Amino acid sequence: MSYFRKHLELIAGYQPGEQPQDGQYIKLNTNENPYPPSPLVVETLMENLTKHRLSYYPSPLCDELREQASAVYGYPSDWILVGNGSDELLSIVFRAFLGKGDWVLYPYPTYTLYRVLALLQEANFGEIPFEKDYSIPKKVLTGQAQLKIVCNPNSPTGTFLSTMIIENLIKNSSCPVIVDEAYVDFAYDNALPLLKRFPNLIILRTLSKSFSLAGIRVGFLIAQPEMIQGLLKVKDSYNVNWFSQKAAMAALRDLHYMRNNVEKIKQTRKEFSQAMSKLGYEVLPSEANFVMVRKPGENLESEYLYLKKNHILVRYFTEWPDSMRISIGTDSNMQLIIQILKNMTKDNKNDL
Ligand SMILES: Cc1ncc(COP(=O)(O)O)c(C=O)c1O
Repeated sequence: MSYFRKHLELIAGYQPGEQPQDGQYIKLNTNENPYPPSPLVVETLMENLTKHRLSYYPSPLCDELREQASAVYGYPSDWILVGNGSDELLSIVFRAFLGKGDWVLYPYPTYTLYRVLALLQEANFGEIPFEKDYSIPKKVLTGQAQLKIVCNPNSPTGTFLSTMIIENLIKNSSCPVIVDEAYVDFAYDNALPLLKRFPNLIILRTLSKSFSLAGIRVGFLIAQPEMIQGLLKVKDSYNVNWFSQKAAMAALRDLHYMRNNVEKIKQTRKEFSQAMSKLGYEVLPSEANFVMVRKPGENLESEYLYLKKNHILVRYFTEWPDSMRISIGTDSNMQLIIQILKNMTKDNKNDL
């Protein structure tokens, strides 16, 4: 006998990437930033540790943080909803727009949490394969649904859809459209300027990637105020803890630090992509802080395991066995990967 709702019996929960806590691995499997957060964040946290503030609830709407985010993203604070990571914001949007039998559409492959959130709502999900050149599938553009999502830059591919295409999608859709911009600080463009014109557009940002703050769990949802008002009904009262609010404010005050790290990562991405191509991998053009490398028709599990044996974690998805997604670390992290993969090829030849 089970106490759970029937549909929960039938679904598997989201499978996050491995998160070893023992410090034994170079972690390049969940697209974290290899550089530490701004020193201002740590200073602010240390300062606030000494204050007797923990006995009170934090600001439910993260008022001060919203003001700070407003200065960064260029929209008033009532256009911003703060979440416990953008994962929570995705969950809020799914709960707000999808009920049993409704439809969500998105290009595929993409972030597999979308499927799990749809299943939790007993909604249908249309996973429409990207076109061969990773452009947007026609069915996502023109299909009828209660919610559409594009992850841009997309994970796990790293590929990017132009703002013109995103605009076209929003114009063609009578439902809310989420543009998940978790990785957009590593890209050449973003969809923020479209918000003024489209009440059905929802943009998601996070501090987990470009700001090196995956551990504090802060994300932003930016949309027109009527959209925010509706979504607030679904949000838990105190969803972002006080320390995270403080840390996030400090990070947003130090944009220069973030941008400097982003530039370093983009340069490393370029060099790593070239080196992997030379090793014989197909490297998808990436606008994110990771690259998807492929050997079409082969299974890359042995590469993944060999790297793991050498204390480097990358992401191998059983769903796409001819591919690995590798987060961009420091230059020396990436040089090490190249060296290990070369050694593996040598070892394999010696075994023959
Ligand atoms: C595409 C995408 N969206 C959202 C998230 C969630 O980010 P967070 O909850 O850390 O803000 C991730 C995390 O890896 C992601 O890859």
